[in-house]
Amino acid sequence: MSKFQLKWGILATGGIAESFGRDLTVNPETRDRNDIEHVVVAAASSSSADRAKKYLKEVSAPDSAKAYGSYKELVEDDNVDIIYVATPHSHHYQNTMLCLEAGKNVLCEKSLTVNAAQAEALIKKAREKNLFLMEALWTRYHPISVYAREIVTSGKLGTVERVFSDNSIGAPPETSFDDKHRMVNPDLAGGALLDLGIYALTWVFQTLYTTQENPQPPTVQSAIRTYEKTGVDQQTTMLLTFPRSSGEGDAHAIATTGMRVPSDPNGGLEAPSIRIQGTKGELMVYPPAYRPTRSKLVLGDGTVDQKDWPHPGPGAGSGFKNGFGGSFGPEGEGMGMFWEADECAYALKEGRKEGRYETLEESLVIMRVMDQVRGQHGFKLPEKIETTEYPVEL
Ligand SMILES: NC(=O)c1ccc[n+]([C@@H]2O[C@H](COP(=O)([O-])OP(=O)(O)OC[C@H]3O[C@@H](n4cnc5c(N)ncnc54)[C@H](OP(=O)(O)O)[C@@H]3O)[C@@H](O)[C@H]2O)c1
Repeated sequence: MSKFQLKWGILATGGIAESFGRDLTVNPETRDRNDIEHVVVAAASSSSADRAKKYLKEVSAPDSAKAYGSYKELVEDDNVDIIYVATPHSHHYQNTMLCLEAGKNVLCEKSLTVNAAQAEALIKKAREKNLFLMEALWTRYHPISVYAREIVTSGKLGTVERVFSDNSIGAPPETSFDDKHRMVNPDLAGGALLDLGIYALTWVFQTLYTTQENPQPPTVQSAIRTYEKTGVDQQTTMLLTFPRSSGEGDAHAIATTGMRVPSDPNGGLEAPSIRIQGTKGELMVYPPAYRPTRSKLVLGDGTVDQKDWPHPGPGAGSGFKNGFGGSFGPEGEGMGMFWEADECAYALKEGRKEGRYETLEESLVIMRVMDQVRGQHGFKLPEKIETTEYPVEL
């Protein structure tokens, strides 16, 4: 049986584009996916074609892969099936619109956009053009997330009454980031909420919203601590109330994110960053919330079930290594970005226009929550990156 081959074009060549590209080289058979394959056929850098060429080398793309010195050339390449947008979130709206206008399917890094109005405009455009569009919320596609959602829907925890969710990094902005760095630079949509808080919200939503039959948007109250030097949020905490039509009453969640203290000072081994609490027990998930590899189920009947969730790959001795920001995982282990790439392949193979574990509607509801949080504190980003106008030169 011939395999369905997905031909990727990579838009931008920064940190996460490298991690993603390297994970695409891991044979899907190592994760029991025998009917699909990925290939990088082109990459574009806004700085130069040489940079794109270097990127293609770094991610071991085939020699035939094309290197472009502008995003426009990439979206015009007929050989590309889908484009991975890996620019800072300030640029997602403009870059994704460029792809959709050119008739390309898109996997766009998180946060999908800067605000809900932009997300809505992209979704409308994708539907008009009958194209696939997905927010690259990789965590949703990790087996540990599939397991967590099954634990909730199976009723093992009883009624889930409350979720605590934290994604914090312990990198105080004044000593960790130059003011121009995308984490704190308003021109690049910096701040904890859009970059890190979205993962805290991901765990809250995938356990209290995705798992419901008729999910309703939550209400939200919030606290923000501003980073005075640049005006973005450095720590944000949200209190969410999820109404339920099941007759079980409202569920509560606390989602928090910050740069000053880490979720766990000891590298993610001691304290869970996610606690999903039901009437019969609790599921704990250990940090980092964006890529957790350990869970512990504790039930009131005495059950304790601890699980490890390493990401598969070519194995020790293969020479393969992947990671982000200069730190690498164990040799032979994937980073775990291929799960979302596989979802794109299956969606295109089956003719679906959205990802199965986070619909575009849900991405939009989450963008609306983040809009409300920012609105509660008058936290605005520059107009040129909040606008739905297109095209705008950034
Ligand atoms: N899934 C995850 O775990 C994860 C982790 C980190 C980041 N992310 C997301 O991925 C996106 C990119 O993050 P990153 O860490 O890869 O950022 P990065 O290392 O700064 O790379 C961003 C790339 O975007 C391009 N770019 C275009 N215009 C730019 C501008 N005005 N300023 C800066 N870069 C510009 C550049 O590539 P060219 O010069 O080649 O065009 C740059 O290398 C963000 O939306 C972030 O939220 C996701």
